[in-house]
Order: sequence, then C-alpha cells, then structure tokens
Amino acid sequence: MVEETRTKKRQARDKTEYALPQKLSELKSDSAIRTKTGFVELDRVLGGGMVKGSLTLIGGDPGIGKSTLIMQVGNYIASQGELVLYVSAEESPEQLKLRAQRLGVNTDNFYVLPEVELENILARAEELNPALLVIDSIQTIYKPELASAPGSVGQVRECTADLLRLAKGKKVTTFIVGHMTKFGAIAGPKTLEHIVDTVLYFEGDRFQQYRILRTTKNRFGSTNEIGIFEMTEIGLQEVNNPSQFFLSGREKAIAGSVVIATLQGSRPILIEVQALATPTFYSIPQRVCSGFDFRRLAMLLCIIERRGGIPTANHDVFLNVVGGLKIEEPAADLGVVLAVISSIRNQVVLPDTVVVGEVGLGGEIRSVSQINYRIKEAVRIGFRQMVIPNQKITEKEPGIELLTCRSIQEAQELAMAK
Ligand code: TYD
Ligand code: MG
Repeated sequence: MVEETRTKKRQARDKTEYALPQKLSELKSDSAIRTKTGFVELDRVLGGGMVKGSLTLIGGDPGIGKSTLIMQVGNYIASQGELVLYVSAEESPEQLKLRAQRLGVNTDNFYVLPEVELENILARAEELNPALLVIDSIQTIYKPELASAPGSVGQVRECTADLLRLAKGKKVTTFIVGHMTKFGAIAGPKTLEHIVDTVLYFEGDRFQQYRILRTTKNRFGSTNEIGIFEMTEIGLQEVNNPSQFFLSGREKAIAGSVVIATLQGSRPILIEVQALATPTFYSIPQRVCSGFDFRRLAMLLCIIERRGGIPTANHDVFLNVVGGLKIEEPAADLGVVLAVISSIRNQVVLPDTVVVGEVGLGGEIRSVSQINYRIKEAVRIGFRQMVIPNQKITEKEPGIELLTCRSIQEAQELAMAK
C-alpha cells in the first residue's frame, strides 16, 4: 500500500496550450542529436551516446561508483565547453571536491549545487540551462508540499515527474542517481521505470575492480549491450578488451574449466566457466550456480546423465561464470556440459580450446547465432581450436581449427585428451 501524498490539486491547463494534431511526416526527429559521454562503453550501452533532453536513471548498490561515473561524464562534457550542473543532495561540496581532485576535474564549466529541495533545483537548472543536469540522488531530494518523507515512493515519483518536465521542456539531458537494487527496494526502479527514458544498472562486486553497466530499459537503443569498467585509483576506466580482461587470471590445466565464446549484446566475449562436481553426502545433491540459470543447469545435468551416460545425480555440482558476467544465451550450454564432465572425470579440456554450442534434450548439439563473430574473437585472443556445432560457416578464419560435433559424446572426445 502506498499512501496518496498529493495535497494540492493539479491545476487545469489553459485551453490555448492544448496540443493539436501534427503530421507525422512533418515532425523533426530530435533523437538524432546525440552527445558522446567520453566513455565508449557508456555510449554503446546508451545506444550511441546521450540523447538531448533524455532522462536517464542510474541505479546500483551504494559505493559501486555511480557518482564517480557521472562526475567523469560531467567532466568530459564540461571540457567540451558545455555547462554541467551537479546537484549534490547527499554529499557535501567538500566531499565532491575531494572526488573531483582525485578524478582530475579541472574546468570552469562544472557547477555544483548542494540542495535538497526540488523547487530550487528546478529554478537553478532553468537559469543555468546546462547541457547536463545530474541529480545525486533522487532519494534525498523532496518537495515539501508532499506529506511523505524523502525517499518514499510518492516523493521519488513526483520529483522524477517534475524533472522529466524540465528535461523534455527545456531539452536538458538529465541523469538521476538512485540507490537501488534490481530486487526493488522501496521506491525502486519499478516505480520510475515508466517515467524515465533509460534505466541503467551499475553492478559488480565492491571487493573487486570491475564494474558492469547494463540497461533494462532504453527508449533510444537496445537493452542487450553491456559496458565494462574498472575502478582504479583515479576513477573508472573502460575495459576495452574484455576477453583478455576476464581470462587474465586463468590457469589452463584445471579439470572443470572451459572457455566459451558468448555474445553480450553485439559484442563477443570469451569467458571461463568453471564446474566442480564432488560425490554428495546428502540425499538431495546440491546444485549451486553463479552467473548461469539454475534450472538450465539442472536440465543440462539430466542430459549429461541420460544422453552422455555419465551419472550426475550422486554429485554436488557448483558452477561459476568467472568475472561476474551473467550468461543467458543457450550457446553456453556445451561449455557448461563439458566443464561438468571434465570435473566429474577429472580430465582437463584441451588448452587453447574454445567451446560453443546449444545442447538439445536429446543430447544433440545445435547451431548458435553469429558464429563468425565468436570465431573471430577466439582467433584474436590467440586460441587454436574451437569446438562448434555442425553448422555453416560463411567466412573461414586462418589460424584456428574448427572441430564440429553433433552430440555431447563427440564433443567430449574432441575436447578432452584421451
Ligand atoms: P562512489 O562513486 O561514491 O559510489 P556511489 O555513488 O555508487 O555510492 O564510489 C565509491 C567507491 O569508489 C569508494 O569506495 C571509493 C572508490 N573510488 C575509487 O576506488 N577510485 C576513485 O577514483 C574514486 C573517485 C572512488
Ligand atoms: Mg554517490
């Protein structure tokens, strides 16, 4: 239940302001005006840069680096000669200054406004008319005429709606920071999703260096793209070569480790999947997954048992996608299957081998999309062999041997040393 917080009635508009029908053919499209953010990774996630007058919500756990990311974007915009207004409702100007020094922000076009009341924020933003307006964070600003507390659903929704009016009316590109997790704390993204144009999530392990930027809604681009960053001493840096980044700590001769070629949006990424299977001591074996769908693992384990003839029901199975990426596409199936078999048999998968393929319920290996991209990425990173489904390859790549397989038995024979 959400309390209705409005105290004033909305005023009826003047009839002369009413909109009239316009010809679609005569409309101008503004969405073509995009500004670069200074990060190729962020531009790609946004669909090719920031759209003028768009409203973007960036969510994520506290301490993940939202303020850092936005300040770096602001710095880039300001250094291009445009005005930036950073509304800090959470941190003091001194704290901002410390961060700015760390990030090397050194421009006269970057304005900071320590304010929590929305009315003043809107007034100052209209006055300054910045190219980029940042609200950090939406949970701490409020409208005093609403009865509810800052951060409540009513406040967050009303404030965002007013910011939307400013963004659309004055064509001010706006970023709103929100502390929220995908699993919807109060006033979470579900409340705001339909109001804003784009929802970004910044995630990653606070104890590790990399951060992943995803989008769950984007009116101006695809929601499949991800951006990968690394938190350093002097702010966020892009990871331009994710395959190399994710494979950097890998030991080659470990049973249960397989490198797969996965597509994240339009980009192929090589990543390591690790499985560990041990005989279980319980009546119900444990299955623990991270970065992979739990039900899909259960299905693949059944296929291994029934079609591959290797018992899995008496094993606890742990599966990990290294680096915190989430793999949703079925093209990762074969890699997972081989990782589990490799661990159960305690036999390593051949080094310098990449695996890709969907596994059907009959144990057959099915074709995957965009195989050429995946092969190219494997070649680029220096792999010599690739176990792939028996499907048509339009371009031949020199330097890599393609091993086609039709069943999990065949894949196993090709990928594991005798
Ligand atoms: P911050 O952007 O304040 O996170 P959020 O706004 O999402 O709460 O980032 C906080 C963390 O990032 C903090 O633990 C310090 C770290 N950090 C760096 O490691 N390097 C840097 O250059 C900066 C500015 C922060
Ligand atoms: Mg912050």
